[in-house]
Amino acid sequence: MGNMIADTRNNFLARLESVFSVTSEDAREIIGHFHQDMRHGLAGGASSLKMLPAFICRPKGTEAGSFLALDLGGTHFRILVVDLDGRGRAAATAVSKFTIPQALMGGNGESLFNFMADGIRTFFDSHKLGDKQVYDLAFTFSFPMEQQAVSSGILIEWTKGFSAIGVAGRDVMALLTQAMTRKGLRHVRATALANDTVGTLMAGCYEDPACDLGVILGTGTNACYPEQGERIRKNPALGACREMIVNLEWGNFDKLKSSVYDQQVDNASCNAGRQRLEKMVSGMYMGEIARRIIEEMTAHSLLFAGHGPSLLTREYALATEHLSWLAAGTDIFTGLGLIDISAADRQTIREIGRIVSERSSRIAGTAIAAVVTWMDPALVMNHTIAIDGALFEKFPGYENAMKAIIRELFGNNAARIKLKHVRDGSGIGSAIIAAVAASGQCPPRL
Ligand code: BGC
Repeated sequence: MGNMIADTRNNFLARLESVFSVTSEDAREIIGHFHQDMRHGLAGGASSLKMLPAFICRPKGTEAGSFLALDLGGTHFRILVVDLDGRGRAAATAVSKFTIPQALMGGNGESLFNFMADGIRTFFDSHKLGDKQVYDLAFTFSFPMEQQAVSSGILIEWTKGFSAIGVAGRDVMALLTQAMTRKGLRHVRATALANDTVGTLMAGCYEDPACDLGVILGTGTNACYPEQGERIRKNPALGACREMIVNLEWGNFDKLKSSVYDQQVDNASCNAGRQRLEKMVSGMYMGEIARRIIEEMTAHSLLFAGHGPSLLTREYALATEHLSWLAAGTDIFTGLGLIDISAADRQTIREIGRIVSERSSRIAGTAIAAVVTWMDPALVMNHTIAIDGALFEKFPGYENAMKAIIRELFGNNAARIKLKHVRDGSGIGSAIIAAVAASGQCPPRL
């Protein structure tokens, strides 16, 4: 009887592994679709990749000054003062972090922006910054925005569980400025607004001129790269730009083979049908995918002898962090209140975590390969990929699995692609954007 269950469980895991696999053959196909969507997106046609010009080019590494950086994009809102020394070094000299109350993520937009302005007021008071100096503000807003200048941008749609009302379709820098005015903060100049991937690319380039891709692998996922102005056909006025950073919004790529669990996660989300790649890859969702698999295996008596803990029937009860600890060999079960769990069940859950995370990293590696080969089809140049986010930084084995698919695709040439962890692209990087913007190097306002 026991053996029969073990066989059925192993068969289930083998099927799961095959449904979640991304072979090098699959990766090549994905790259083809990716290029097609990049082409259509740049031309303004129908595409799952938004290809959004960021109205900034890469830094020279000589930019200097002190900037006020704001970072909104996940569960926290951060405020920093960042000093750039003009020799490729950047440092945050004051930092405050505020947890965003769940009610504000889905409440009224004005309250969310008031919360940020209050945070800035508290930051000025607690770091004794005074009201004399005028600060250039760099705002990292990690959501898709339509920009016509580096200092403003219209939110296209919320992602990552945000749904605050009255913000989509509006200029977020104007909303922030109005909130700051309401709170009497007049000594702040709205200089630059950018996506977190752009900050990450800028921070990577500030140190290393070979850097040409900025990637986030955290709560959400996305990337940006420098494009030639003339290839951005949807905006002919950019034709004269030698270089323009383009935010792909790759989290919305929709040509991946998905499993029934992905469909369930998508259906239950507040942006169903959107961000399909993100929901298969990023930290916000991996734990939930694994939880749904566990739920199904329990329903078939392949885990917990069919009587799973009620905790695991709650949506998002299993976080990607749990999978990460599991992969590191830490016991997550006691912390989750699962005391009498059998060795076989532990092993099965560990295996589920591996299958879900390996698919994520192989898709991430494939997406990087797609953008690199878009820029450099024969892979003749070196490319440093600046990457930020907890998945890349902390998930055991994640980076190696990304490298594995890149090696499968490019053989020895894979050595030309260097994955580099860039710390705090959204803080430090946004200050670099403000410095480039203030220096007038970036493309002019249309
Ligand atoms: C957003 C992107 C962002 C990414 C990483 C996605 O949900 O749409 O704009 O860059 O998350 O934070």
